[in-house]
Amino acid sequence: MPSFLFFSLLFLSFFHSTSALPSIGVTYSSPSPAATTTNHPPPSPDKISTTISTLKITSVRLPNADPSLIKAFAFTNTSIFLSIANPLLPALASNRSLALRWLYRHVLPFYPRSKITLISVGNAVLDYSTAQEDFSPFLLPAMRNLYLALQELGINKIPISTTFSFFSTITTAFPPSSAEFQQPAGDLIIKPLLQFLEQTNSSFLINIYPYNLFRLNSEIPIGFALFQDYPFNFRDDLVTGVRYFNLFDMMADAVLTAMAVMGHENIPLVVAETGWPSGGGEAGEVEANGVYAEMYLKGLVRHLKSGVGTPLKKDGVAQVYVYELMDHEGGDHRERARQWGILSENMTRKYNVEFSGAPKISGSFGIYFLGVMWLLLGCF
Ligand SMILES: *[C@@H]1O[C@H](CO)[C@@H](O)[C@H](O)[C@H]1NC(C)=O
Ligand SMILES: *[C@@H]1O[C@H](CO)[C@@H](O)[C@H](O)[C@H]1NC(C)=O
Ligand SMILES: *[C@@H]1O[C@H](CO)[C@@H](O)[C@H](O)[C@H]1NC(C)=O
Ligand SMILES: *[C@@H]1O[C@H](CO)[C@@H](O)[C@H](O)[C@H]1NC(C)=O
Repeated sequence: MPSFLFFSLLFLSFFHSTSALPSIGVTYSSPSPAATTTNHPPPSPDKISTTISTLKITSVRLPNADPSLIKAFAFTNTSIFLSIANPLLPALASNRSLALRWLYRHVLPFYPRSKITLISVGNAVLDYSTAQEDFSPFLLPAMRNLYLALQELGINKIPISTTFSFFSTITTAFPPSSAEFQQPAGDLIIKPLLQFLEQTNSSFLINIYPYNLFRLNSEIPIGFALFQDYPFNFRDDLVTGVRYFNLFDMMADAVLTAMAVMGHENIPLVVAETGWPSGGGEAGEVEANGVYAEMYLKGLVRHLKSGVGTPLKKDGVAQVYVYELMDHEGGDHRERARQWGILSENMTRKYNVEFSGAPKISGSFGIYFLGVMWLLLGCF
């Protein structure tokens, strides 16, 4: 069975690779001007920067690439991930001097004192059914122009990528071994993009929300989405013989499989957003609560620190960014109205989660690891 052989080889090649533990960061979206009239004025950039250092979070994603925020991270060791808004893509694609101008405003005045480590050109450009315009034809030309402009400035340590969302990019999460990129964007947009990422040593960035997949599939047990290890809390991928103990790994392996099908399994995978809301959702979102949100975050951090990777890739995902640093009161966007923050709006901690520190291999993860080993041996 060719696919079995393919995945056995894939599995082995993944298993033998080695790497550091994934870094765990957080997203901070500066509130929209409309939201600043509420009871809580937005914290100053310096406050955001020191809060993130105090939480021992080593990287931050700034979707709005606000220069005052970038500046506030100078001389901290916080890695900074910047994003460029979709409406800028057509201009950036057609005119490299505009790419240079963007870098003159957002990178050059601050780098390397502010440790900018990644730039995402656009966000979820394939989600255009919900947006006004399809920016995907401009994506790769804009990324190329940003890349060339960085080279022109002699900066070669900031990779250029873009961010996708799982649901508009990947065909299925189960079984992960049957996942592919959705067509026609897979061949038209993603295939040449993966080539670019490989050539420039960049990463593939995607938003992974087990919360959303759980809400779409009522048969998924909540514990499976929340990293709870109950004895029978697993799903088997019968093609690869791999057993999954949580939904996050299943979604990550679906992305890795889709990349492998296109011949690019070695590009690092970065989860640009993940999280669980503690409330504020539409009526009926009973799983948006603080208890579940804390379980998800604790489970995620424990899983990432355990160093077991995902079942298909020993070094798993390279970086993960939790969405999001703070709750935002009544944002204009419907999603923002949910409470996704790890901090309340008054900046008090909502959960007791340690984001960095020594990894602890707990008993249950030892068993998890043995289970994977057993399946590996059982395969052959
Ligand atoms: C940043 O990291 C360097 C090297 O690890 C360390 O010497 C320095 O004290 C750190 N700076 C801050 C502000 O944490
Ligand atoms: C590119 O952008 C620069 C700077 O804004 C502008 O001067 C120039 O005319 C633009 N070129 C084209 C072809 O649009
Ligand atoms: C990519 O990384 C490899 C190995 O570290 C290096 O040899 C190569 O020059 C890098 N390529 C680019 C375009 O940075
Ligand atoms: C901060 O906000 C949270 C949630 O709204 C509330 O429970 C807590 O008492 C507040 N703390 C302070 C110091 O205002």
